[in-house]
Amino acid sequence: MTTERRRKLIEVALPLEAINRESAREKSIRHGHPSTLHLWWSRKPLATARAVLFAQLVDDPSARPDLYPTEEAQSARRKDLFDLIERLVVWENTTDTALLAEAHREILASTDGNPPAILDPFAGGGSIPLEAQRLGLEAHASDLNPVAVLINKALIEIPPKWAGHPPVFPGAADTAHSWPGTTGLAEDVRRYGQWMRDEAERRIGHLYPKAKLADGSEANVIAWIWARTVTCPNPACRIEMPLYNKRWLGKKKGKEAYVVPRVVGGRVEFGIGHDVAHAPTKADDDTVTRNGARCIACGTAVPLCRWPTYAPREGPAASVPGSWPSPRRATAAGTTSPRRRSTRPPPGCRSPTEYPTPNSRRQRSGSGCRDTA
Ligand SMILES: C[S@@+](CC[C@H](N)C(=O)[O-])C[C@H]1O[C@@H](n2cnc3c(N)ncnc32)[C@H](O)[C@@H]1O
Ligand SMILES: [Zn+2]
Repeated sequence: MTTERRRKLIEVALPLEAINRESAREKSIRHGHPSTLHLWWSRKPLATARAVLFAQLVDDPSARPDLYPTEEAQSARRKDLFDLIERLVVWENTTDTALLAEAHREILASTDGNPPAILDPFAGGGSIPLEAQRLGLEAHASDLNPVAVLINKALIEIPPKWAGHPPVFPGAADTAHSWPGTTGLAEDVRRYGQWMRDEAERRIGHLYPKAKLADGSEANVIAWIWARTVTCPNPACRIEMPLYNKRWLGKKKGKEAYVVPRVVGGRVEFGIGHDVAHAPTKADDDTVTRNGARCIACGTAVPLCRWPTYAPREGPAASVPGSWPSPRRATAAGTTSPRRRSTRPPPGCRSPTEYPTPNSRRQRSGSGCRDTA
């Protein structure tokens, strides 16, 4: 038995202006959006996913001449569907259960009460399965990348399991009379998250001291800048030479910031400069190039082929109180105090990660080294 395929709305027309506008607006939404759970490459805007799923399932009125026999009737019906989509794509309506139920009813009417399940085999950040679920459809997701799988589990698999449950964190359930939807789960995530944060601070917080700001106050550190080091081969110097290829932190006009290394008592200390007049130039922006490194204290040049002797390792780099070039990067780095941000190294930290051997570097770049000493 064959079933007649009816033309779907997406094949005829879409309210593109509204969909585009709301999809673009979504980029600036920072609260409650899955992108704040985890970033993903090329995540589709939820508004787009919602509109496209809906329009793929709902019949175009021209496919139902029994219900809409004239062009006028079809246009009027299409206008109603457009109106529904235009309301559906608005971020603030994402949790409007009455509106989502209305959309679900339309989908049922166009699929003889038996809508197909939605499978996204390349689900990534989960926009498509999430919106399928919101529209009341059976949603499945998979992805090659286990991180994407985890995001999708967090978005579409776990929340429905706990819908309507009170939180289990000791004492939390008593703080409200009812826990509709996933509010109980959300409360647990908040409370256990806070517990984890406090516990981490109690156990390892001493390794991440606060930064001192110019006005004497303290700020949370939101990012750590690292540089590998080698010991200067000059016997009269022997400082731990930091290896970096740029000192600039931000070049935005009026907010310029760069790292300023200083050698104090045989140690390298780092400060932050904002004065454009003393900003890094081509001549002093880096200490390491393809050919080798340069000691910032005595100027000794260290060719790459000599590095095995000096065992490069990772060490602390800059202390950057109160300045970071891009707020987005700062947020991603996890500040707990948005008004007081800074970056600085963990004192005395050494990473066990292995540095690529100079041999492998030479082979890759294909450059020889005349200094064989
Ligand atoms: C452009 S992203 C999908 C974005 C998604 N539509 C969203 O809105 O977030 C493409 C996804 O395909 C996944 N992928 C690539 N090759 C795959 C394969 N062979 N099998 C399964 N997933 C694959 C990638 O890991 C990536 O997450
Ligand atoms: Zn030196």
